[in-house]
Amino acid sequence: MKITYYGQNTLAIEIGGATVIVDPFITQNELSKDKVDIMDLKADYIFLTHAHFDHILDAEAIAKNTGAPIVGNFEIYQYYTDKGIEAIPLNQGGLRSFDFGKVKCVTAIHTSSFPDGSYGGNPSGFIFMGEEKNIYIAGDTSLTMDMKLIPKWAKIDLAILPIGDVVTMGAEDAVIASDFVECDKVLGVHYDALPFIKIDHAAAKKTFKDAGKELVLLGIGESLSV
Ligand code: NI
Ligand code: MN
Repeated sequence: MKITYYGQNTLAIEIGGATVIVDPFITQNELSKDKVDIMDLKADYIFLTHAHFDHILDAEAIAKNTGAPIVGNFEIYQYYTDKGIEAIPLNQGGLRSFDFGKVKCVTAIHTSSFPDGSYGGNPSGFIFMGEEKNIYIAGDTSLTMDMKLIPKWAKIDLAILPIGDVVTMGAEDAVIASDFVECDKVLGVHYDALPFIKIDHAAAKKTFKDAGKELVLLGIGESLSV
């Protein structure tokens, strides 16, 4: 499984012969808008963790360009279906099979509404289960005891956790989250893209190293494989 980072919580996951785009927010992200052309992105599916602008901004354009369906909770499914865009519902607690593998939708503790004010339902995290490896994408969330359930569903090989603090967990809580999900390898996301979530990269990495864990921070367009 190959994971490419495009800033904030935007990821491209190559899994089981498919490319999955998660939470596309590029054209208004100062860090990525000049480096990535959304029309160049391949997508077989677009997964949305919740409806905030910094997660859905480019979803409609990429869906129209690629024909990829949008996968999200029932409110997200309904929102895009009403716009005439193909969408697939996957709500918290649900496990769904796709042609590339299985995805379980799990709890995230956060808020969610669309930029136009319409209700976005409960925010989600996702466990992507490939043939050999599994990754957990927490989405925007606080630390929650619910994360202790994650290893009961899948052995996690990479945890993708927010570390920007203020509107999600920060690095210290993300260390505890990595204990809860029983995965010491963490890809940090949701930092630097907005003024109030700028972080000290070296300090965040030290927080993980001191706990015997690895925090990976990727540049825009950089990838890692699990
Ligand atoms: Ni959010
Ligand atoms: Mn966000």
